[in-house]
Amino acid sequence: MTAEENLNKLAGEISICEHCALHETRKMSVPGDGPSNAEIMFIGEGPGFHENEQGHPFVGASGKFLDQLLAQAELTRAEVFICNVVKCRPPGNRDPLPDEIAACDAHLEAQIKIINPSIIVTLGRISMSKFIPDVKISAVHGQMKKIGDRYVIPMFHPAAALHQPQLKPSILGDFSNLPGQLNEAREALGRPVVAVKKKIQEVVSDKPKQLNLF
Ligand code: URA
Repeated sequence: MTAEENLNKLAGEISICEHCALHETRKMSVPGDGPSNAEIMFIGEGPGFHENEQGHPFVGASGKFLDQLLAQAELTRAEVFICNVVKCRPPGNRDPLPDEIAACDAHLEAQIKIINPSIIVTLGRISMSKFIPDVKISAVHGQMKKIGDRYVIPMFHPAAALHQPQLKPSILGDFSNLPGQLNEAREALGRPVVAVKKKIQEVVSDKPKQLNLF
């Protein structure tokens, strides 16, 4: 079977999975979207209301912001894989529980194995702690770390930046570093390095402009 066929087969298994209680309240499972040969994989926490309705990751408000962040990194959804640590919605959008994360981990590990990305970007502290436990996201966000055969970059969750606007310049800055980090990872992993196409846009600050008094 090809990688794409394996990924589709896995999505079929996830759609009928009953490994944890989240299946009892789900409308649709959300296995993840993207090509089976994506170089970058984004991992969020879990589906929210809109994702549970539609079966696709990051389609609500934080998804709109994620699209902006991808543009900041000169990426599109078509070239990255986006998924979550749990594939079914935790009721009321609560954080997934440790036993739910553990029950879903085999699905996530299988996706990582099939896709074999150069970089995993974790979105928020819950997916970060799978790879980099016992650190504060505020201390390590945006920093690339080699873990096993690939690199992991912890980023703030887009929803956190929507709720705490003071985080927005940081998350935009972290995403604008991704093209360079991807080339660093490619080089270290012996994968083809690609010229960074555009000049990286200046990070737009949310701070009100200071009046020029002169
Ligand atoms: N938040 C997440 O972590 N994942 C989604 O798919 C949507 C919102």
